[in-house]
Amino acid sequence: MKVLLVGGGGREHALAWKLAQSPLLTRLIAAPGNPGIARHAECIPIKDVAVDEQVALARRERVDLVVIGPEMPLSLGLADRLAEAGIAVFGPSQAAARIESSKAFAKDLMARYGIPTARFETFQEAASARRFCRTLGAPLVVKTDGLAAGKGAIVCRTLDEADAAIGLCLDAKSFGAAGATVVIEEFMEGEEASFFVLTDGAAALPLESAQDHKTIFDDDRGPNTGGMGAYSPAPVVDEAMSRRVMEEIVAPTIAAMAKEGAPFAGVLYVGLMIDRRGPRVVEFNCRFGDPECQAILPRLDEDLLPLFDAVARTAWREGRVVTAGGRVIGVQALGPDIRTAIARAYAGVERIHFAGMQFRRDIGRRAVERA
Ligand code: AMP
Ligand code: GLY
Repeated sequence: MKVLLVGGGGREHALAWKLAQSPLLTRLIAAPGNPGIARHAECIPIKDVAVDEQVALARRERVDLVVIGPEMPLSLGLADRLAEAGIAVFGPSQAAARIESSKAFAKDLMARYGIPTARFETFQEAASARRFCRTLGAPLVVKTDGLAAGKGAIVCRTLDEADAAIGLCLDAKSFGAAGATVVIEEFMEGEEASFFVLTDGAAALPLESAQDHKTIFDDDRGPNTGGMGAYSPAPVVDEAMSRRVMEEIVAPTIAAMAKEGAPFAGVLYVGLMIDRRGPRVVEFNCRFGDPECQAILPRLDEDLLPLFDAVARTAWREGRVVTAGGRVIGVQALGPDIRTAIARAYAGVERIHFAGMQFRRDIGRRAVERA
């Protein structure tokens, strides 16, 4: 199979590394790719968001399958355009990608279908938004409706912080159109985990869990980023929790999307907050996480290419995936246990030096504390 991989981040590097191991692969093209990806694929300098050029490339190269890594081209309708051109594509339609590209859509869907999530309301006007904050009380979370590269969720410890965050979105328009609508929601306590599922829009196959570290500084301090580091599996997601997430969240969400006329086919990322009562949804994403993907893929024995292909084409057979055992640079390491994996990863980090280098020293510490 000739495959085009769209994207150029660490996530796409992990995908390229994994796809390159498939015996079914005959040629891998990446657009735009990056120097790491170039070890596994021929890189063509076309931006992931250049929809027309990506479609033209897929046609010209007569690829059998396109795998789309990032959310931005999905939210721009790249999957739809490829499908219209008769090209098989792994990645959801523009309508299905709204589960990530509009938090207001995702929250409304969850409310209407009884999918557990934080209490919320949606606003376009600052005064009523600030009034709702008074009914919720602090802490609370102010979120831009649209995509903001992982920076659109502002956790507010006080009502003053909430007022400022609302001002930033609705008055100063700091996030542009993405922040013209905000979702304000209750702050959830608990343990966070990212949970990944492959789905063709009807059946669902759980892949693996991971834990991302979103704030810029150690000990979960500072503003949120797209993710500073990740490890897999997340200890809170044991077998029983995985089953609950599939039953209480994933199955109803996939059914809801189909019922809404926007069946979701691709990889569904479920951001979870887990407490004693069970799992609740923090957010949905319409793609693999970055950097979670880099932590998960080395643990999968299964060849992903036939699974991606099945999702892209026909209804698929129920399968089973077996597990073995903004970033400038990502360092990955496997180990028989989390301590060893951390030690090996940080041994790698010690060899990297550049001006302004910023990294967290506590990636995976939670898992050690729980071990
Ligand atoms: P999001 O962009 O929605 O994934 O939010 C980014 C991060 O903000 C999450 O990974 C959480 O750490 C935090 N966060 C978002 N919403 C909530 C919430 N309702 N309660 C607690 N933390 C949240
Ligand atoms: N690491 C968080 C994300 O990919 O959205």
